[in-house]
Amino acid sequence: MSQPPLSRSDLRRQLRQKRRALSSAQQKQASESLCRHLKHLPQLRAARHIALYWPADGEIDPRPIARWAWQRGIRCYLPVLHPWSKRRLWFTAFTAKTRFRRNRFGIAEPIKVARAPLSPKHLDVVLLPLVGFDRSGGRLGMGGGFYDTTFAFRRHQPGWNRPKLLGVAHQIQEVAGLALQSWDVPVDGVVTDGGLVGGRGFRGCFKAP
Ligand SMILES: Nc1ncnc2c1ncn2[C@@H]1O[C@H](COP(=O)(O)OP(=O)(O)OP(=O)(O)O)[C@@H](O)[C@H]1O
Ligand SMILES: [Mg+2]
Repeated sequence: MSQPPLSRSDLRRQLRQKRRALSSAQQKQASESLCRHLKHLPQLRAARHIALYWPADGEIDPRPIARWAWQRGIRCYLPVLHPWSKRRLWFTAFTAKTRFRRNRFGIAEPIKVARAPLSPKHLDVVLLPLVGFDRSGGRLGMGGGFYDTTFAFRRHQPGWNRPKLLGVAHQIQEVAGLALQSWDVPVDGVVTDGGLVGGRGFRGCFKAP
């Protein structure tokens, strides 16, 4: 008899447990593989402004890509909580010299946030953390709705295809099919330690569900 599908919260719990169970050696290897694949993406090579994130909760670590990006003259940004708009992220540039502190969620943020952080519309590529993904671009996040709110303009303005939204994750975070809600913003592609999984906006295409 087939099992009923898991609720979003049960699926989240299960996937978060799986990625937290990875050893530090597995995490390091996954991060290296991820960054090796990222460096081949033409959209990343051509970018001027890219956003990444500081990993937590077993998330795959995209930070090594920053050193490569800086060498190519690409500016790197991290998300920071918008000062007054609920659930909205802005992006602040960082360099190898930036110093960090923990925000109210325990996630590292640069101590000195640029006086005018960059609006999400001005980024070329955003590497999004995720809890689960499917092959149609469906993304399950941590449940805060931060990335969905920040990039809601991608749903309202379908012709607007910047920035490219690229989910990054461990291979083990793939699920067969996510039931998306009206507010969920799909990603243009996903890269894992195993390579590019799909990507409307990248090479190849997501398979139709
Ligand atoms: N554009 C939006 N405007 C207002 N509220 C939103 C928007 N997008 C999402 N939300 C709210 O955020 C809540 C959490 O959304 P969801 O469960 O999809 O988070 P998530 O995608 O897992 O998290 P995140 O986007 O932070 O990675 C939802 O209950 C929804 O009400
Ligand atoms: Mg969502």
